[in-house]
Amino acid sequence: MTEKINTLNEKIKAAHLGGGETRIEKQHKKGKLTARERIHFLLDEGSFEEIGALVTHRTKDFGMEKEIYYGDGVVTGYGMVNGRLVYVFAQDFTVFGGSLSETHAEKICKIMDLAMKVGAPLVGLNDSGGARIQEGVRSLGGYADIFYKNVMASGVIPQISAIMGPCAGGAVYSPAMTDFTIMVENSSYMFVTGPNVVKTVTNEEVTSEELGGASAHSTKSGVTHLTAQNDIDCINQVKTLLSFLPQNCEDKPIRLPYETGNEIREKLDNIVPPSANQPYDMRDVIEGICDEESFFEIHKDYAENIVVGYARLAGRSIGIVANQPMNLAGVLDVNSSKKAARFVRTCDCFNVPLLVLVDVPGFLPGTDQEWNAIITNGAKLLYALSEATVPRISVITRKAYGGAYDVMNSKHIGADMNFAWPSAEIAVMGAKGASEIIFRKEIKAADDPAAKLAEKEAEYAEKFANPYSATERGFIDEVILPKNTRRKLIIAFSMLENKTVSIPKKKHGNIPL
Ligand code: HXC
Repeated sequence: MTEKINTLNEKIKAAHLGGGETRIEKQHKKGKLTARERIHFLLDEGSFEEIGALVTHRTKDFGMEKEIYYGDGVVTGYGMVNGRLVYVFAQDFTVFGGSLSETHAEKICKIMDLAMKVGAPLVGLNDSGGARIQEGVRSLGGYADIFYKNVMASGVIPQISAIMGPCAGGAVYSPAMTDFTIMVENSSYMFVTGPNVVKTVTNEEVTSEELGGASAHSTKSGVTHLTAQNDIDCINQVKTLLSFLPQNCEDKPIRLPYETGNEIREKLDNIVPPSANQPYDMRDVIEGICDEESFFEIHKDYAENIVVGYARLAGRSIGIVANQPMNLAGVLDVNSSKKAARFVRTCDCFNVPLLVLVDVPGFLPGTDQEWNAIITNGAKLLYALSEATVPRISVITRKAYGGAYDVMNSKHIGADMNFAWPSAEIAVMGAKGASEIIFRKEIKAADDPAAKLAEKEAEYAEKFANPYSATERGFIDEVILPKNTRRKLIIAFSMLENKTVSIPKKKHGNIPL
C-alpha cells in the first residue's frame, strides 16, 4: 500500500514538474512562474489544499493515450489569502500548453461549484493555448460549462482572472465575464482571433502584443482592469483587490482597525485652483481624503477623464468614482461612462460603499460621441448609480453642469449625502455659454456686445456659479470646507453603515447595454 502511494506521489511530482524540467525552464525563460509557483505566492504559507491532483484526460485519439499527466494541465484547490478562504485554479502551460480538455474543465467547474456553495471568491490564473485541439467539441463544451458557471456566480462571489500567458479564441470570454481581469505585461495576451487570422481576413499586419497585449487592453479596449509588471506583481495585485472585497454578496468587506484622530486635512484647501478653467489632479483630492497610500486605482490608463478605484476611509473599504479635470476637463464621454458604470455595479454587487467626487463640465459634444452612442453609454452610468443600493455620498469640488450634474450621484437619483465645497458651481451650463443663449438679443443690441456679454456672464455666475442655490433647495446637504471633507465623510459613511433599501420587485432591470 505504502509503495503504491509512493509511486503515485512520484507520478504526481512528475506532473507537477510539468513532464520534465526543460518545460519548466522554458516557462521560466519566458519570465513566467509555473502554475504551482503562482499558487504558492498567492496563498498563505502551507494553506493550499489540492483537489483532483490525480485527474487525467480520457482521450485516446492522436496517440494521446500515451501522454498522460496527472492533473491534466490545471492545478485546482483552495487555500487562504490573508486568512480568508479563496478557491483557485492555475493552468499549467507545461502540460499540453495549459490547453483545456473535458477533464481540465471539469476540475475548474468543481471548484467553481464549491466556491458558490461556500460563498468564497474564485481566482483563475490563466495560461493556456485554448481548447485542447485533440478533444474537439468536448473541450468546447468544457468552456461553455465554465462560461455558464461564471454567469451564475456573477454578483454572488468575487471572480478575478489573472492572465499570465496566452488567452485566445473563445477562451477570453470567461475572464471577460468575471469581475476583474489583470494582465501581465509582455507575457500575456488576449484576443478572439490571433494575428494570422487577422492578416488573412483584413490584411492587417499586427503582432500578438500589439493586438492583445496588456498595453492594448489597458489603454485602448479597456478589457483589462489592471496590468502587472510580472507574475509576482500580478499575484500581489490580486491579493490587494481581494482585501477590498467581501467573501460574497451577503457579506461586507472587512474593516481594518482604525482609531479616529485629527481628521482635518489642510492640504485639501489648496488643491482647486482659483480659476475655474485651470486643471488639477483629482488624485490629490482622493489622497487627501483617504487613508494614507490606500488608493488602488482600477482601469488607470483607460478613459483617464474619470478615475475609479478602491481605497480605505478610517479602515473602511470604499469605491471611488471621480471626474478628472486633468484629462479632457473631466468631461463625461462614451468610455468614461462605461468605465464608471461597470465599477459602480461591481461595488454595488459586493456591498462596497461609493464616494463620488464631482468636477464635470458636462457630456462631450460632437459627432464622434453621438455616433458612438453617448446617449446609451451615458445612460449606463445614470442607470448604474440610480440602481445602486450601497451607501452613496457625493462631494462636488467644482463644476457640476447640465445632465452630468444629475448623473454624477445627485440627490435626485438616490445619493444619501451630498456635500459641496465653496468652489462648487452647479448650473445648467457654464456662465459664458448660458449668457450667450439667454441674453443673446440684449448682447446683440448693445453698443459694446463684448462688454455686455461680460456683464451678463458675471450676473449669471453670481447667481449660479456657487453651491448655495442647490443647498437652499436641499439638493446639497451641506457646504463644507475642503479640509473638513475627510472628517465629514468618515462620520457620514459610519452613519450609513446599516443602510437598507428595498427595490421594486422585478426579475432584473434592463440596463441599456
Ligand atoms: C493542444 C496545445 C494547444 C492546444 C498548445 N499546445 N496549444 N495542445 N491543444 N490548444 C501544446 C503544443 O502542441 C506544445 O506541445 C505545447 O502546448 C507548447 O506549445 P508551443 O506552441 O510550443 O508554445 P509557444 O511557442 O509558447 O506558443 C503558445 C501558443 C501556441 C501561441 C499558445 O501553442 C498556439 O498557437 N497554440 C494553439 C492555439 C489555438 O489555436 N488554440 C485554440 C484556440 S480556439 P509540445 O508537446 O510540442 O511541447 C479556442 C476555442 C475556445 O480556444 C472556444 C470556447 C468557446
